[in-house]
Amino acid sequence: MIEVIRKRRSIRAYLSREVEEEKLKEILKAAMFAPTSWGRRPWEFIIVKDPKTKTALSEATPYATFVKNAPVVIVIVYDTTKGRRFKEDSSICAEHIHLEAVNQGLGSCFVQIADAEGPHGNAEAYVKELLGVPEGYRIQCMMPIGYPAHQLPEHSDTEYDESKIHRERFGG
Ligand SMILES: Cc1cc2nc3c(=O)[nH]c(=O)nc-3n(C[C@H](O)[C@H](O)[C@H](O)COP(=O)(O)O)c2cc1C
Repeated sequence: MIEVIRKRRSIRAYLSREVEEEKLKEILKAAMFAPTSWGRRPWEFIIVKDPKTKTALSEATPYATFVKNAPVVIVIVYDTTKGRRFKEDSSICAEHIHLEAVNQGLGSCFVQIADAEGPHGNAEAYVKELLGVPEGYRIQCMMPIGYPAHQLPEHSDTEYDESKIHRERFGG
């Protein structure tokens, strides 16, 4: 597990090579194996491959511009009538997606949508409208996925910082 965690980097450049459906399914399984508050499983997943829609998604915020180059984008949608921990449940699910993507030899990146602004105004309202997401649902983030166009250095033990660890009490 730590090997995959070390390898996980935010990948923002992708090959045009298609992502195999079997790999996508494994990633979606990982998403649905994520813990949720009260076990409610309130997420839904929109799989976007259409180039026009991906281009529109990449306009959601100034930090989403690369999304159009990913062969596939998973938009994590959250049913607030079922779950009450929108940010936590969505973010943990996103990390499962991210890690299984790495495990499948793919790259991904957490792209913030909730509480973000872009050229079309509020990013969440814009993406909801674009994808026909009904009222009562929210969107924390989207996860572009593809074969990495380049490798970034793995996380290394130099990032392990003893000074951030407190024994028994803060400062201890
Ligand atoms: C809550 C959250 C929001 C993020 N939003 C974006 C984003 O909108 N666009 C982006 O390119 N990266 C985004 N990232 C990725 C971070 O920039 C990235 O994780 C960080 O720079 C560390 O790099 P690494 O993931 O390669 O270790 C986000 C990450 C988190 C956890």
